[in-house]
Amino acid sequence: MKIKVISPIPLQAEAWRSALATSDRTLQVEILAQPLDQLASLANGSLPDLIVVELVSGRDFDALERLAAQHPEVEVVLVSDALPPERLMRAMRAGVREVVPAPVEPAALVAAVQRVVRKRHAAAPPSPPARPAQELARVLAFISCKGGSGATFIAANVAHLLAEGGRRRVALIDLNLQFGDALLFLGSTRAGSDVATVAASIDRLDRQLLQSAMIVVSPGVHVLAAPDDPSRGGEVTPAHVEAIVQLARTLFDVVVIDAGRALTGVTLQALDQADRVCAVLQLTLPFVRDGRRLREVFRSLGYADGKTAWLVNRHEKGSQISLDDLRRTLGITEVLTLPNDYMAAAASVNQGVPMAEVASSSALSRALADLARQLVPGTTSPAERPRSWLRQLFGGTSAGTSR
Ligand SMILES: Nc1ncnc2c1ncn2[C@@H]1O[C@H](COP(=O)(O)OP(=O)(O)O)[C@@H](O)[C@H]1O
Ligand SMILES: [Mg+2]
Repeated sequence: MKIKVISPIPLQAEAWRSALATSDRTLQVEILAQPLDQLASLANGSLPDLIVVELVSGRDFDALERLAAQHPEVEVVLVSDALPPERLMRAMRAGVREVVPAPVEPAALVAAVQRVVRKRHAAAPPSPPARPAQELARVLAFISCKGGSGATFIAANVAHLLAEGGRRRVALIDLNLQFGDALLFLGSTRAGSDVATVAASIDRLDRQLLQSAMIVVSPGVHVLAAPDDPSRGGEVTPAHVEAIVQLARTLFDVVVIDAGRALTGVTLQALDQADRVCAVLQLTLPFVRDGRRLREVFRSLGYADGKTAWLVNRHEKGSQISLDDLRRTLGITEVLTLPNDYMAAAASVNQGVPMAEVASSSALSRALADLARQLVPGTTSPAERPRSWLRQLFGGTSAGTSR
């Protein structure tokens, strides 16, 4: 495998070259000791399989995007100061596989390059998609403008409603890689496997592996849980998430992602792949302030207005900040609302049972059903579906007894 190290600092380039060359004899490493933005082409001499580049200036970033577009087959490992989310997203779109924070120890750089090399050598690609492209699952992502806004609660309940008691196959993927709890909202069984386990076996990822890593919490609802141990979340990369979501799209009718609160490479990757991104907030100032920031991020990512939806959770009439205030502040025209219902939501969360089963006729359950219908047209609410013979026999839909 051919690697070019591009850095304007010759000593540093040499240190990286020698660390890489001694780590693996099959790597042929060359140095291009010049700033990235003065590099006209990657192919002077022969084209490398992978480049290691240090980002020094904003001009370097533009040059990187240009070179990556010319040579999409070349893998990129980037050494850079922390990138703002929109830059990170652009870098990933340009094909950057790993971003290593500067200043970097040669050993950390070697580890990043080895990860890319291993992936490249990975065995057979995942088995072919089960569905034709036009039938790929719709992907819905829920993101919290601020912790506690209700994103997980809503994602879990929408996933449950969209499955329509097993008529559809729905994946719920928990990308709160630290302290993810989506599984608990739908039943407290502990997952044997999780996002980090799947990421660790990414070279073998296929439909079978993904399916078996998911827990079926109710008919049609398959949850890929977050790792139990927060430290394992760090092992999951944007490329892993891309592979997992792509594959899930071929296996399910709808993919629901709980993207949590953090804007990281992993969550941005998920948002990018989503057909619809629902930002969840409440009508108090801290939420609105963070909502505005999120709105800016969406803009800088180039998301069309139709891609994003704004969801005011725990809405109460007569709140100090009105829906109109929110529309004005965020510069949006449409806002969806879900009413506040502390008792029912707490009962659902404490029992690990979806709202539709704890309090099926409450205003919150009806609003969740409306939301599910908006997000995936054609979804029927539990009340509209013919009742099962068992229920007809016992007449039972009363709280908490239907499981
Ligand atoms: N519409 C609602 N009315 C009352 N309580 C709610 C509502 N939605 C969510 N909650 C409560 O808020 C808590 C936090 O929600 P959660 O989904 O964990 O937030 P996030 O994932 O955004 O951090 C939940 O435990 C739930 O009990
Ligand atoms: Mg959450």
